[in-house]
Amino acid sequence: MTAPQPSSKNRPQSINVRVLRQHEPGGKSYWELHKVKYEREMNVISVLQRIAAQSTTVDGQKVTPVAWDCGCLEEVCGACTMVINGRVRQSCSALVDRLLVENPDEIVLEPMSKFPVVRDLVVDRARLFRGLKRIKGWVPVDSYYNLGPGERIPQQEQERNYPLSQCMSCGCCLEACPQYQKIELTQAEGESDEAFEQRRNEEFDKAFIGAAGISQAMLFNNHPTGKTLAADRLEALSGPGGISTCGNAQNCVAVCPKEIPLTTSIARTGRATTLHAIKKWFER
Ligand code: SF4
Ligand code: SF4
Ligand code: FES
Repeated sequence: MTAPQPSSKNRPQSINVRVLRQHEPGGKSYWELHKVKYEREMNVISVLQRIAAQSTTVDGQKVTPVAWDCGCLEEVCGACTMVINGRVRQSCSALVDRLLVENPDEIVLEPMSKFPVVRDLVVDRARLFRGLKRIKGWVPVDSYYNLGPGERIPQQEQERNYPLSQCMSCGCCLEACPQYQKIELTQAEGESDEAFEQRRNEEFDKAFIGAAGISQAMLFNNHPTGKTLAADRLEALSGPGGISTCGNAQNCVAVCPKEIPLTTSIARTGRATTLHAIKKWFER
């Protein structure tokens, strides 16, 4: 599908791009206005490349290049996620022609607000990845011997799992979630890197995990080998910052670029954690 384009009559000569910048973690943020020459079929990454090459604001001031992150350039790695014209999305798949139809005056770029800023548009998503460790988001392999083919997965189960397996840990669902609050800690003077990381992980582990982690738990609990860790995952999601923190606002499902049925995963987790609690009670 081709993006709607500004008609040739309305096609601009240049595009105004307003960027929220921040030089360092915990630093003060400020707006900067750039202008780039319009070309057809640009995406936000190509706009950022031109801004970096110019490194000059709209009023001719020389500035340091704006920093951003990217990897795959095809909406698979999630690294380029940022808030574009007020909506969280991937900058590699955000097409300028479409953005200009939404707002012909300017493109506004901000880092995600739920993660600490590293620099400019680059954020630290460590908490998201910590969440995947918390729910043991993997299939355990217990030996290096050839154990033969794994259990066959019926097609109906494959169809249920496949959408969940498309999660790219981009963070859009967490950015949009009213229950997911930013955690930003600073390393104390004299605190070792290891001690800081441990303190940070303890904070992460108490806070709401968010829809991505919940959904990944359902994916691995529904895998023939992955389900051997099902009880551990349900235990993690029954504790502080687990499923009971979800307020069911459903913002997450509305912004997921992969259209993952997150609210279905949340409902499944709710039922599974209840059964887990009942089972534990009978085993006492
Ligand atoms: S349904 Fe739960 S996880 Fe999704 S946005 Fe609402 S509170 Fe957050
Ligand atoms: S569930 Fe969707 S929005 Fe959330 S991290 Fe995964 S791909 Fe991104
Ligand atoms: S660069 Fe990988 S999702 Fe955009």
